[in-house]
Amino acid sequence: MKFKANDVREDFLNFFKKNGHMEIENLSLIPQNDPTLLIINSGMAPLKDYFTGESIPPSKRMCNIQKCVRTIDINSVGDPHHLTFFEMLGNWSIGDYSKKEAIEFGWRLIKDVFQIDTSKIIVTVFGGDKSLPGISADMESFEIWLNYLPKDRIILLDADSNFWGPTSDTGPCGPCTEIIFDRGIKNGCGKVDCGPECECGRFLEIWNVGVFMQYFMHEDGSLTKLPMNCVDAGAGLERFAMILQGVESVYETDLFIPLIEVLTNKIDINKNKREIRIIADHVRASVFMLADGIIPGKTKREYVLRRIMRRALLYLTILEVDCQLFWDVSQVVIREYSCRYPELKDGEDFIKNVIFSEITSFNKVLSKGLRELDRIIKSSTSAVISGDDAFKLQDTLGFPIDLICEIAGNKGMTVDKERFNFLLEEQRQRSRK
Ligand code: SER
Repeated sequence: MKFKANDVREDFLNFFKKNGHMEIENLSLIPQNDPTLLIINSGMAPLKDYFTGESIPPSKRMCNIQKCVRTIDINSVGDPHHLTFFEMLGNWSIGDYSKKEAIEFGWRLIKDVFQIDTSKIIVTVFGGDKSLPGISADMESFEIWLNYLPKDRIILLDADSNFWGPTSDTGPCGPCTEIIFDRGIKNGCGKVDCGPECECGRFLEIWNVGVFMQYFMHEDGSLTKLPMNCVDAGAGLERFAMILQGVESVYETDLFIPLIEVLTNKIDINKNKREIRIIADHVRASVFMLADGIIPGKTKREYVLRRIMRRALLYLTILEVDCQLFWDVSQVVIREYSCRYPELKDGEDFIKNVIFSEITSFNKVLSKGLRELDRIIKSSTSAVISGDDAFKLQDTLGFPIDLICEIAGNKGMTVDKERFNFLLEEQRQRSRK
């Protein structure tokens, strides 16, 4: 294998260190002094105060590899490239270099260091957006890209694709430019208008090579200028590994092969590829969150962890496999990743205890909840589970709504989420009073 994941990490850091960047610490997934964010979701999240000028960075040029968790795409996990936990390769300029250098660094790394076939590269640039009337299209980046690529491979897109941030409701944000790898027609939908915005999987974003952090978003959505121009760039290690190892999904990279192997010893991958991927991703995410001291619970980041753990446990249950397999995969995660993340090995006993106690409480909730849900489904005259039934299941039995939706979906049914949310809000109002 030409580029093992660890080579990708090392080559990335060495490249930026050679170019004057200081390597900074990879921080805990628990945000420090940031009440706006539950879990670190990007490399820049712990660095926000540098962008606003509230803190002075140790260097104007920095780089690192940061543990991140994002659950916004949790329902897409299982496809070739979506994950809840990932390692973000990041480089930053705090009032130092700007667009020209950021793009040049990106190009040199993929072309000279990683030797990616650049005929498969296209890039996207912020092309303006009606919702952001004061911010014009980033023609400066467009012009810079013309030094490297023909015009037809530089695509202008709107804010949905090319305006990044903030990490929560407020914070630094700005237009961005992304490097996309074209995986070829065979990996896509084949439609004539298929392009980087299409969800079919042909076009894989590999690097947000520059968020040009020029604005601060306030609670009301208004933007003010930041005191200096900064660059925030980030790439998912797993996606780079997928491209560099020439495989079809992140799950076939060396980052996942040993985890998948434990699962395929017990589960038929030909019939259950998506489920195996979901379990592998969720176990890996859980182990990292546990190692940082998060424990599964009912609210906030504790709930995020519980949801991920229970989703993996649910799939093990659906596949009729002993939930102990969760721990078996966890052990492999600890073994494979401890070299770089010693907190996993240090926390092994704690991680094990929490996993087994979560399995016990999950099984209690599950057997009661499944019985009740089964009764509801059998007596239902339509393909919709009522919001009242779903609410009762969650409220009285602790059977989470996500699991209800998941099981309903697997049976071709839906849940009346609108009514469910209404009842939930009503209950919140009552308890506030
Ligand atoms: N913060 C940007 C992202 O997460 C670039 O790192 O995509």
